[in-house]
Amino acid sequence: MSAGTALVTGASSGIGAAVAAALVRRGYTVYGTSRDPEKVNDPVEGVTYLALDLSDDASIEACAAAAGPVDVLVNNAGESQSGPFEELPMDALRRLFQINVLGAVRLSQLVLPGMRERRRGRVVMVGSMLASFPLAYRSSYVASKAAVKGFAHAARREYAGYGVGITTVEPGSIATGISERRTQYVAEGSPFRAAYDTMLAALNANEARGITAAKVAATVLAAIEAPRPRPLYAVGSNAPLVFALRRVLTRGAVERMVARRHGLR
Ligand SMILES: NC(=O)c1ccc[n+]([C@@H]2O[C@H](COP(=O)([O-])OP(=O)(O)OC[C@H]3O[C@@H](n4cnc5c(N)ncnc54)[C@H](OP(=O)(O)O)[C@@H]3O)[C@@H](O)[C@H]2O)c1
Repeated sequence: MSAGTALVTGASSGIGAAVAAALVRRGYTVYGTSRDPEKVNDPVEGVTYLALDLSDDASIEACAAAAGPVDVLVNNAGESQSGPFEELPMDALRRLFQINVLGAVRLSQLVLPGMRERRRGRVVMVGSMLASFPLAYRSSYVASKAAVKGFAHAARREYAGYGVGITTVEPGSIATGISERRTQYVAEGSPFRAAYDTMLAALNANEARGITAAKVAATVLAAIEAPRPRPLYAVGSNAPLVFALRRVLTRGAVERMVARRHGLR
């Protein structure tokens, strides 16, 4: 799809900032979001920042109204959460699903009618390869990214006849510093502490030596510009190889492969 107006959530850092920058270079008018646009450390040149807190429905509606008609929505903002399954507090789970799933769904619902009427649009969900390769002690995050992918996969065909493409991009390990912002829930005296710490150390190390956010942005751009975007794109963590292996290995073998990559048995 050729240039128009794009809205990128979570454009204050990492992948969102890289996607916003790539869209500016492609000639799009770009709105990027932050919970606090005044405090964005390194604003991307050419991007107009709007306030958006995905945990607040009124903020989502105000953001969509401020952006006006958009041709491209990149649902990138998200929380990275980890902790043993049985120790995840319900309020933390509700917040995670509000931000990573329902917030993105609501914002999409607000921009899609305009795209449908103009018969032109792209919605990209930034998921995670962990949704395709589930990892222990990341169950809430895995589930939230699988949920948003499920919405996108199913809704795709509703828009297929309207020139509107809905797609999911699953990044692997990307060096954005997200490890420092990850929310963690491990109970005091947790029986899972040692295994959790092992997983976390591997996860953080993988992220630190991951590919750049700019490489993810190039994949997001390819999804936006494809005449018929595929349902799923993946980038980083040897995505082509591991997705190929996933097609030929048993589920158990894939589970062991993911566990071993994170120091787990
Ligand atoms: N880095 C990785 O290895 C990796 C791998 C797979 C998937 N991902 C996904 O890629 C996306 C971007 O991650 P990143 O690595 O670039 O992380 P990041 O640098 O921490 O960026 C997260 C963005 O989300 C925004 N955000 C956080 N909470 C929000 C809320 N309640 N409402 C609205 N915006 C909120 C932040 O904006 P403000 O703080 O300015 O509001 C920030 O711009 C996320 O969905 C993440 O799950 C990342």
